[in-house]
Amino acid sequence: MDLSILEQLREQTRPAHLALETQPLLKQLLSSRLTRAEYGQVLQAMLAFYQSLELELVPAAAALLRRHPSPDYQYLPRAPLLADDCRALGCASAGFIHPPVEIQLGGRGANLPGVLYVIEGSTQGGKFIAKHLAHTLGVSEDSGASFFHNQRWANSWPAFRRWFGTDWAHDRQAEIDSVIAGANMTFSALHTHFDHWQGLTHGR
Ligand code: HEM
Repeated sequence: MDLSILEQLREQTRPAHLALETQPLLKQLLSSRLTRAEYGQVLQAMLAFYQSLELELVPAAAALLRRHPSPDYQYLPRAPLLADDCRALGCASAGFIHPPVEIQLGGRGANLPGVLYVIEGSTQGGKFIAKHLAHTLGVSEDSGASFFHNQRWANSWPAFRRWFGTDWAHDRQAEIDSVIAGANMTFSALHTHFDHWQGLTHGR
């Protein structure tokens, strides 16, 4: 049976997703003993990742959407939300020197839909994380959890799926392979980034 591109993406990135969930910095997000300081560290790491990635990703996604317009999907930048959340938590949002995020969006952008899949899909896990943050730390959309807040993303995942479910991105198996490679590259770049971040902050 032929699987849709979204089903293939989900299946073929499952190991990378599971591995990322066990990364210690991320794992502690769902701990019942999570502290504000630990949450602040995750926000800072996320902010550094998205700031670096979105320098290229925002214009690349806009160019892709010009080539393949969608009636209702657009990429909403995450870095400004993370910067607000860092401020609300009172954590510095700059000052760390960290390696740049290693994701290649260049060439004809064949990887790009896979990168967007990972970012848009992560809002699905974000729902659970938002509930947990409200419960353990009492933070909500306007007090440090705007990035994870589910209402904000309620439309973007379905809109992304509708846009991406049409056949522009994956007429041929070679294209599907590039999209899946882009998604796995994104998971692994984020994982590596969190590992580096953990080394930096725990070595201080
Ligand atoms: C503690 C961290 C995380 C937890 C507990 C978690 C958990 C989840 C859960 C429960 C779902 C929904 C599955 C479903 O509806 O069937 C999901 C979906 C997803 N998550 Fe995560 N997640 C985490 C972190 C991340 C991160 C950091 C990313 C990438 C930036 C990510 C990417 C995705 C994607 C792409 C999907 C959609 C899969 C699909 O339906 O195709 N997750 N996650």
